[in-house]
Amino acid sequence: MSKYIHEATTIQIGSIFPFVASKPLGIDKILIGRDLLGGLFLHDPFELYKAGVITSPNMVIVGQIGRGKSSLVKTYLYRQAAFGRQVVVLDPKGEYGPLATCLGAEPIYLYPGGPYRLNPLDMMSAESRSASEDRAGGERHLFKRRLELLTAISAACVQRNLKPIEYTALEYALTAASGRHTTVLLGHIIEELLYPFADSYNQIGVGHEELTLGARDVALELRRLVYGELAGMFDGATSPELKLNRKVFVLDLSALYSSPALGIMMACATSFIQSIYTGITKGKTLLVVDEAWAVLQNAGVARFLQASWKLARSRGIANIAVLHRISDLETSGEDSSVQNKISTGLLSDSETVICYAQPHQELSLAAKSLGITNEEAALLPTLRKGVGLWKVGSRTYLVEHKLTSAEKAIIDTDQSLIG
Ligand SMILES: Nc1ncnc2c1ncn2[C@@H]1O[C@H](COP(=O)(O)OP(=O)(O)OP(=O)(O)O)[C@@H](O)[C@H]1O
Ligand SMILES: [Mg+2]
Repeated sequence: MSKYIHEATTIQIGSIFPFVASKPLGIDKILIGRDLLGGLFLHDPFELYKAGVITSPNMVIVGQIGRGKSSLVKTYLYRQAAFGRQVVVLDPKGEYGPLATCLGAEPIYLYPGGPYRLNPLDMMSAESRSASEDRAGGERHLFKRRLELLTAISAACVQRNLKPIEYTALEYALTAASGRHTTVLLGHIIEELLYPFADSYNQIGVGHEELTLGARDVALELRRLVYGELAGMFDGATSPELKLNRKVFVLDLSALYSSPALGIMMACATSFIQSIYTGITKGKTLLVVDEAWAVLQNAGVARFLQASWKLARSRGIANIAVLHRISDLETSGEDSSVQNKISTGLLSDSETVICYAQPHQELSLAAKSLGITNEEAALLPTLRKGVGLWKVGSRTYLVEHKLTSAEKAIIDTDQSLIG
């Protein structure tokens, strides 16, 4: 009986049997752990972007509870910091303090009535300066971004899409407030919505009473951000301490972890942080939004996040979103087609997707959204803690994330870090 010997290149074998022969990414940092098909696995969005392996440095990490997502992020940032990268984290569970301490920083705690204020409308000036050369273009860009954010916050507050009259009222309120105040605050917008001046509405053929009534729901919901349970957070000019361009910036939002306002606050903080790090620094920055499902719960805020990700692209910021399920990207919205576009957009803007264990009901969506084969998707429910499927551009890897003993202190919050 004759024997057939089939010869093929690793690329050919890899395309026939995914995982059988993984092709190294060809970069020399950052070490993640072990490629389960042999060798070490390294990943760095900036190096991969430079090498043309990926066209977007953004990353999404998905996985069931307790599979090691945050641990991966913490050690990844720790290792990135060793190469001089700036590390910024939105920390809704308050678990990145030990990492901050290890990197010589302290987390900043944002909570109602606390010492820090974050003015959602103050955040884009630096970004607008870098986005447009001329002053008028910069002003237009700034206005547009502020209106996008105001719309997103308002839609999240009223928990539905805005009506045309509400959107128009916001636009007029922002125009009026920008003309009257050097630093526009949310309180100014609320004032303009509740008591619009005649010249701000008479061009659109809407009566004073109609406009005021039409904008009332939005105005009263926004008012809760400033005077309600969140008072003492968004109601003032941004604290100078928050505007510092830090090498390590951990914003602890755990005081609002169970609040419905968490997503709104995370969207404001993301936008604010992106504007600081886009406009001022030239360094490479990793911006982590852990528990990002909170932002994605609302279509308006999710849309805003997606736009921010696009803006950050190629400006030295790699955004990293951490979720539980792929379907978090398709959370219920009024308009499911809009929501689907957001999920597709976020994933297509994230050419590194790390998938930890997923339940069976997520598999077909995972295969479709991540562009992995059904065989690869079938592995997902079986992945043990610390093992993830990495999709980098068009390549797929099965990687075991390795921890050093020093790093265990960063991920284990029970253990004392120092001494
Ligand atoms: N690579 C790893 N090797 C060994 N143990 C790990 C690894 N990664 C995480 N762990 C352990 O698993 C625990 C849970 O990890 P982690 O908090 O990172 O999970 P998570 O996926 O972020 O969970 P959640 O969805 O609840 O936020 C950690 O406290 C850590 O002790
Ligand atoms: Mg976690």
